[in-house]
Amino acid sequence: MTAWPRFKMYGVPTIFRQAVSDFAGGRVQSGDDVAALERALSDLTGAAHAIAVPQARVGIHLVLKSLIERSGKQKVVLSPYTIYDVVNMVVSAGGIPVFADIEPNNANLDPDAVAPLLDDGVAAVLVTHLHGLVCDLERLGSLCRKRGIPLVEDAAQAFGGHWEGRALGTVGIAGVFSFGRAKNVNCFFGGAVVTDDGELARALRDEVRDYAAMDPAKLAKRVLSCLGYSVAVSRALFPLITHPLYRWLTLRHPKRGAELLSTERSPVLRSSLPEASRRKLSPMQARCALGQFPALAEQQRKRGKLAEIYRSGLANLPSLRLPIELPGTDNVYLAYPIQVSDRVALQQFMVRQGRDVVIQHIGNCADYDCFAEYRRSCPVARDVAASVLLLPTYPDYPPSEARANVEAIRAFLEVHSQ
Ligand SMILES: Cc1ncc(COP(=O)(O)O)c(C=O)c1O
Repeated sequence: MTAWPRFKMYGVPTIFRQAVSDFAGGRVQSGDDVAALERALSDLTGAAHAIAVPQARVGIHLVLKSLIERSGKQKVVLSPYTIYDVVNMVVSAGGIPVFADIEPNNANLDPDAVAPLLDDGVAAVLVTHLHGLVCDLERLGSLCRKRGIPLVEDAAQAFGGHWEGRALGTVGIAGVFSFGRAKNVNCFFGGAVVTDDGELARALRDEVRDYAAMDPAKLAKRVLSCLGYSVAVSRALFPLITHPLYRWLTLRHPKRGAELLSTERSPVLRSSLPEASRRKLSPMQARCALGQFPALAEQQRKRGKLAEIYRSGLANLPSLRLPIELPGTDNVYLAYPIQVSDRVALQQFMVRQGRDVVIQHIGNCADYDCFAEYRRSCPVARDVAASVLLLPTYPDYPPSEARANVEAIRAFLEVHSQ
């Protein structure tokens, strides 16, 4: 049995060659590639301005900080089903997070839950396109326009997606992309903000200009950890070593195994942006990101085909909830999220058959103790956060494996839904 991993990093092996050559040649900080990346992002999205940031979360912080200062208002309405540091970015920007519940099928903000929260104290609505699934921009956009509230897009997981022919990230006042290690453009960590708003762009540039250069030790550490992961999921090692290890963890210690591999295991409240985050994206990282742009569209097409295999193969199963594509959307499908009540049992069933799938580690931030002062009841987010399992969609994942996943899930549900 040759098991395929749950996820493979994008940009490999080119980004490692780039990193090794730039580190060895002392060129990590050389070149005007950050400006080139920003120009390429403007060309690709049609946005007037693109500003590179060290991580998407820093971009979110900067955009919100500027909007809060501009409006003198503090509330930021957002989805609780996101990484906890996004909530920290609201707080560190001087905002008050107001959680609105999500829609069950695409797991993004529910316009009906957002509407009653929009009052004169709201500085911005931060929408998320989680899993690369476009949120209900039609209704959320219309709600915000009616009240004159800026809509900000967290498109960290949705670079390359579209809504009504417009690039995601350009529908609201600003959009934020991530080029982190688990994203479809990977420069170890990194991100960008796009906007048509000149004042906002100037404010962001003024802030980023004062940031220190990227810490080479931190960057080198991240390159090495990415290299380690890539080796662990390589065709040579994954079936022999990594999968058996994952299998053992999943079967023997499902909870600890999931926690061990999660970046969300110990959420904490941070009321200011850590000093270590105030760094400029390095030219080396910009080169890594730029090198991946030509492959973007083809990779998205491949993910779309895998999503179609899952969608058609898993349709009409009463105990499974599938994502719904909203009209006019071109979705990124960074992974294909399915919802099932006993996801641990399904994961274990699949692992036993040599099928590696991962439990979504993102939780319902509205329930976290560290955010107790912002707690709101978001029952849909609570339910979704306990049910999502991610099916692989990375571009070289074989369609035959996706079909085998479908078979395995159907077999599991036949037994477990009786
Ligand atoms: C929905 C969402 N928003 C924001 C971020 C932050 O991205 P970054 O790691 O580049 O700061 C992530 C990262 O995983 C994310 O998934």
